[in-house]
Amino acid sequence: MNIRYTDSLAGITADRLRGGFFAGWPHPPSPEAHLRILQGSYAVVLAVEDVSGDVVGFITAISDGVSAAYIPHLEVLTAYRGQGIGTALVQRMLAALRPLYMVDLICDPDVQPFYARLGMTPYSGMIMRHYDRQACD
Ligand SMILES: CC(C)(COP(=O)(O)OP(=O)(O)OC[C@H]1O[C@@H](n2cnc3c(N)ncnc32)[C@H](O)[C@@H]1OP(=O)(O)O)[C@@H](O)C(=O)NCCC(=O)NCCS
Repeated sequence: MNIRYTDSLAGITADRLRGGFFAGWPHPPSPEAHLRILQGSYAVVLAVEDVSGDVVGFITAISDGVSAAYIPHLEVLTAYRGQGIGTALVQRMLAALRPLYMVDLICDPDVQPFYARLGMTPYSGMIMRHYDRQACD
């Protein structure tokens, strides 16, 4: 299968997002909400399966466009993991955000080596989660 990468949402509809993203989330956003997440982002990179046009991986960033960016979402569909797609998505996003001072994300400790290989540094942070808003509906 051939994977292409794009930072454009041209031609992307909710139907291209039905592969099972937000795996393991108790209240996953619907494909329609997923599309709104992509549309509301400062930058996106999508991994698209060439023949079907289905999205198999995505990364988003939100930003002030001047100083800081935050990467809230990165996911590759389970069947497509372990082939370098996640690495390619992060590399492309970090390149797009290179003009900015701060590029931050929150991740579990087990994923820290993955991001460290891509040049990021472990740090500490604080979060708040409104679980009643997880589905974004
Ligand atoms: C993290 C994720 C995007 C990586 O995508 P991918 O396409 O499999 O990434 P790559 O193939 O480029 O790299 C995989 C490497 O990351 C490591 N890795 C990824 N997730 C890991 C995890 N949870 N624990 C330990 N290692 C992990 C793999 O061991 C692998 O290392 P290897 O190449 O030495 O075997 C994917 O596993 C995923 O979608 N996970 C669920 C969502 C998630 O955790 N997102 C990050 C939120 S901060």
